[in-house]
Amino acid sequence: MNALPVPTHQADYQTRQKATGISGKTAVIIGGTSGIGRAVANRFIAAGGAVILGGRSQETLDAELARIAAAGGTASGHVVDMAARESVAAFFARIPRLDYLFAPGAAYQVASIHSDDHEAVESPFRSKFWGQYHAVREAAPKISADGAIVLMSGAAGARPIRGASAYAACNAAIEGLGRSLALDLAPVRVNTVSPGTIDSDLWQRRPAELRAHAFDSYSRSTALGRVGGVDEVADAVLFLFGNGYTTGTTLFVDGGYVLP
Ligand SMILES: NC(=O)c1ccc[n+]([C@@H]2O[C@H](COP(=O)([O-])OP(=O)(O)OC[C@H]3O[C@@H](n4cnc5c(N)ncnc54)[C@H](OP(=O)(O)O)[C@@H]3O)[C@@H](O)[C@H]2O)c1
Repeated sequence: MNALPVPTHQADYQTRQKATGISGKTAVIIGGTSGIGRAVANRFIAAGGAVILGGRSQETLDAELARIAAAGGTASGHVVDMAARESVAAFFARIPRLDYLFAPGAAYQVASIHSDDHEAVESPFRSKFWGQYHAVREAAPKISADGAIVLMSGAAGARPIRGASAYAACNAAIEGLGRSLALDLAPVRVNTVSPGTIDSDLWQRRPAELRAHAFDSYSRSTALGRVGGVDEVADAVLFLFGNGYTTGTTLFVDGGYVLP
């Protein structure tokens, strides 16, 4: 579970609620039970919105929905596997309308061009690219005209590391998808957030030694000299939800990692 602090009391949501234009709106957040997605859900609820969460585990969803309800937030949720098109379609069949979509829920492996493990090599595209593509396709007829979609990519799409070509290409493809969809779905706004290494639950579940090495290496590659936090990405997503004149762009939340 999330090691980072999250709002847990009704007072947190009420006192943090602001006049952001989000009050009364609904956001679908697939991958909203952990890490970055969970931080976005917390921010959205704190701003007065309702969330519909998606994830693969009913048990995890139930626990998260109970936590939100106990804190006075409004949330529902359904099981969905972003790597399966039929599952994404069934998820959205249960949702009559929405204002915002953020669907970073993805599970994949990172493998090199020299690998014979085709399942692993193709997994980022299956889960992260096609998952988001089909989520947008299913959500598009139901999203309000003044709504917004934020896609999730990753800084490796702009500044790759060795041994992760398919993963890097997947992130670059998502940014291209975002630019195209901004034309196809206007007036709905479509933007992409591209985080660098973020100290999320994903990293907390990994062995401490591996995490320390990765964080150190990443920190030394950035202008700001550190990894990011989930709330810093959530800030960017909320900005892209709310800004009415921003579409087709990629917002990097990476501490300056992609700078030359
Ligand atoms: N953390 C980073 O350093 C970083 C950097 C760049 C980009 N990103 C991107 O950010 C996204 C989320 O990362 P995170 O760090 O927040 O990870 P996380 O803490 O592991 O959270 C992942 C969330 O997605 C859900 N999920 C995983 N696979 C799914 C699937 N196939 N279908 C539906 N839901 C699924 C998980 O719930 P269940 O397991 O219950 O399904 C969980 O709610 C990923 O797309 C990742 O590529 C992360």
